[in-house]
Amino acid sequence: MNAWNNLEPKAPPVTPDDFVRAMGAAATSVSVVTTAGLGGRFGLTVSALSSVSAEPPLLLVCVNRKNPSVSAITQNGRFAVNILATHQQDVARVFSGRPLDGQPYDFARHSWIDSENGLPLLQGAAANFECETETIHDAGTHRIFIGRVFTAIRSESAPLIYSNRNFGRMADLDGGK
Ligand SMILES: Cc1cc2nc3c(=O)[nH]c(=O)nc-3n(C[C@H](O)[C@H](O)[C@H](O)COP(=O)(O)O)c2cc1C
Repeated sequence: MNAWNNLEPKAPPVTPDDFVRAMGAAATSVSVVTTAGLGGRFGLTVSALSSVSAEPPLLLVCVNRKNPSVSAITQNGRFAVNILATHQQDVARVFSGRPLDGQPYDFARHSWIDSENGLPLLQGAAANFECETETIHDAGTHRIFIGRVFTAIRSESAPLIYSNRNFGRMADLDGGK
């Protein structure tokens, strides 16, 4: 306990719109989280991916509990994270349920292969990870899955970037010097 705990923050309440607009300043990677097993086969586009620890290798993803992939990942106990490459915007749209044409959540539209562990991995992605679910936390509307990584593959492809609700690519990271 400290003095701060007894104080109400001196600011008007933050609306969801305020929050989303301000978070638009973040530039993130774009991933498709996949799972397969008795709980079903699902894929979902997420920007909420973070590395947690390298030793042991842990990462986290946050998924809205309204999405059916949440109960599937929970039941299957494993998931993959596919960090999309710059040429994979269409994959991001399909697995956010909003393709420009065709069917949403359609694994047949791009090059998916099942790993030896049965998890869908996207060919040509910037990186692929396979994880065993280590811990689950519910926070607000979302479920945070912390996964212990058991395979991690980096390709030569540059990652797709998402910011201010737009897809793009990285300029030279030293360009601001
Ligand atoms: C670039 C991008 C990033 C997203 N990031 C997340 C995320 O981190 N977590 C999440 O639960 N949904 C995320 N979404 C939303 C889901 O992909 C999907 O669109 C949403 O769950 C569909 O909800 P609806 O069927 O209610 O429209 C993201 C969507 C896009 C296009």
